[in-house]
Amino acid sequence: MNVIETQDIVYEYPDGTKALENVNFKVDEGKIVALLGPNGAGKSTLFLHFNGILKPSSGKILFNGSPVDYNKKNLMKLRQNVGIVFQNPDDQLFAPTVMEDVAFGPMNIGLSKEEIEKRVKDSLKRVGMEGFEKKPPHHLSGGQKKRVAIAGILAMDPKIMVLDEPTSGLDPKGASQIMRLLYELNEDGMTIIISTHDVDLVPLYASTVYIISHGNIIKEGNPRTVFGDVETIRKANLRLPRIAHLMEILNKEDHVSFGKPYPLTIGEARRRIREQAED
Ligand SMILES: Nc1ncnc2c1ncn2[C@@H]1O[C@H](COP(=O)(O)OP(=O)(O)O)[C@@H](O)[C@H]1O
Ligand SMILES: [Mg+2]
Repeated sequence: MNVIETQDIVYEYPDGTKALENVNFKVDEGKIVALLGPNGAGKSTLFLHFNGILKPSSGKILFNGSPVDYNKKNLMKLRQNVGIVFQNPDDQLFAPTVMEDVAFGPMNIGLSKEEIEKRVKDSLKRVGMEGFEKKPPHHLSGGQKKRVAIAGILAMDPKIMVLDEPTSGLDPKGASQIMRLLYELNEDGMTIIISTHDVDLVPLYASTVYIISHGNIIKEGNPRTVFGDVETIRKANLRLPRIAHLMEILNKEDHVSFGKPYPLTIGEARRRIREQAED
């Protein structure tokens, strides 16, 4: 079941920039889907279509199989179901304290005081930010801000969480913590859509990968299929995961092969190397 599907969407900004051209993008319920592309490819523009912040110049967006209706009431409902975490937490966090920030969404949809308190507490706990309730968001680190922004979305209890470059600007530990959290949320049934240009993270977490370049989807499939198409990866100004790149060099320069398609993760490479060593 596709929870989100775009059909031939084109988007042109008011200044005439054509940011998306005939984009067909499908998200299967319960999956982690990654949109991979270099800066300026159209990732953020596409994501802003998923909860109706942007409306396509032409083409359609389907949510749960029905075309998105842009009247106010439906948009509100859509935004409860599809939560977007912006790339820059400073665009998202604005309340004087962490608690008020996370409570803002639930308050807006008119939940009871008890329900709001419960949701704030549960969401902050979920992202490992309990104890920070009274802090002003601008006193937090980048990773902490990101987690509070995620808590704010979680508090709305959405079906789908869309995260625009969730690991950008974070240190390696912060980035892994966020990815781990997303993995856990997904295990509990949340559909996750992320954009990134971090090709090393994608094969660890995503089950479906789309490559976007100059507003066009130029490849889609599982990580193996997508990263197996080295030419397309490079054409999109991306690179292979480091591990796959090493395997490619060993194969092409040194004629040492651990099999194709190249392993994409340390775990997979380790297994292949050990198998070969034991032969
Ligand atoms: N508000 C805007 N007005 C005009 N052009 C924009 C605007 N925002 C983005 N663009 C252009 O749209 C294209 C896609 O941008 P964006 O979706 O932000 O890419 P990405 O998120 O992949 O870096 C780029 O060419 C960018 O310059
Ligand atoms: Mg962007």
